[in-house]
Amino acid sequence: MSLSSSPVVFVTGAGRGIGRAMADAHADAGAAVAYVDFDPALAEEAANAAALRGVKAVGLAADVADYAAVEAAASAAVAALGPVTVLVNNAGISPKGGADGRRAEAPDMDPAEWRRVIDVNLTGAFNCVRALSPGMKALGQGRIINISSVAGRTYCDIVGVHYAASKAALIGFTKHLAGELGPYGITVNAIAPGRIDTPMVRGTATAANEAVRLVTPLRRLGQPEEVAEVCRFLSSDAAAFVTGQVIDVAGGWLMT
Ligand SMILES: NC(=O)c1ccc[n+]([C@@H]2O[C@H](COP(=O)([O-])OP(=O)(O)OC[C@H]3O[C@@H](n4cnc5c(N)ncnc54)[C@H](O)[C@@H]3O)[C@@H](O)[C@H]2O)c1
Repeated sequence: MSLSSSPVVFVTGAGRGIGRAMADAHADAGAAVAYVDFDPALAEEAANAAALRGVKAVGLAADVADYAAVEAAASAAVAALGPVTVLVNNAGISPKGGADGRRAEAPDMDPAEWRRVIDVNLTGAFNCVRALSPGMKALGQGRIINISSVAGRTYCDIVGVHYAASKAALIGFTKHLAGELGPYGITVNAIAPGRIDTPMVRGTATAANEAVRLVTPLRRLGQPEEVAEVCRFLSSDAAAFVTGQVIDVAGGWLMT
C-alpha cells in the first residue's frame, strides 16, 4: 500500500540535530510536519522557519516520556495538519555526566538516570505509537521510523549501558511492531546512526569524536541530513515493501 500523496509527519526531538534535519527534509519535500520537542522554543523556532518556507507546519512542546503530553501533542497535530501518516521516533538522550564528558560505568550509574534514559528513549517511542498508530490503522496506511543507534547493535565505548539497552530494545520494538502492524498497511523500520555531528555529539569530549573518526572507514562524522535522506526513503513509496529492518547510517563504523 502506498502512502497518501501529502503525508503528515510527526517527528519527536525535531527542534535540533537529526530530528530537525528529518523534519525539514520531509517539509521541504511537501509534507505537513509536526515539530515536537521537549524544548518549546526549539519546537516553535523550527516550525516557524518551515512555515516561512511555505510549509504547513506546527511546533508542539511535549516530553515523550509523558503519555498525557504525547496524547495532547498528537491531538494538536491531527487538528492542525490532518491524520498523521508518518511517525518518526527520534527524541533521545545520552547522558555523559563524567568530568571528562564520558558516561558513568554501570555500577556507578544513578538509578534515576537509568530510568530517565529508558523512559525517554524507549517508552517515549511506545507512547507515540500508542497515541498515533490507531489513526494509521484506521487509514490503512502508515510509516513508523525509530531512531536506534549502532550502539544498540554492538558494544560502543562512548555511551552508557542505559543508552545501549534502550537502543537495542528499540530494535526489538521495531521488529515486533512490524509484525503487528503490517497487516494494517503500516511499515515499521529503524535507522541506526553512527557518529553524527549534532549538539548531542558536540557535547562529548573532542578526543572521543576524533577517535571514532579515525576508525570510521569514511574517515568523518556523518551529517544529520545524511540520516534524513534515509528516513525520507523509508517514508517514501519506494520503501513500501520494506519493514522490520534496521539500516545503519554510520560510514562503516562498527559495521553491525
Ligand atoms: N548524534 C549521533 O551521533 C547519534 C548516533 C546514534 C543515534 N542518535 C540518536 O538520534 C536521535 C537524535 O540525536 P541528536 O544527536 O540529534 O540529539 P540532540 O541532543 O542534538 O537533539 C535531540 C532533540 O531531542 C529533544 N528531546 C530530548 N529529550 C526529549 C524528550 N523527553 N521529549 C521530546 N524531545 C526531547 C531535545 O530537546 C533535542 O531537541 C537520538 O535518539 C539519538 O540517540 C544520535
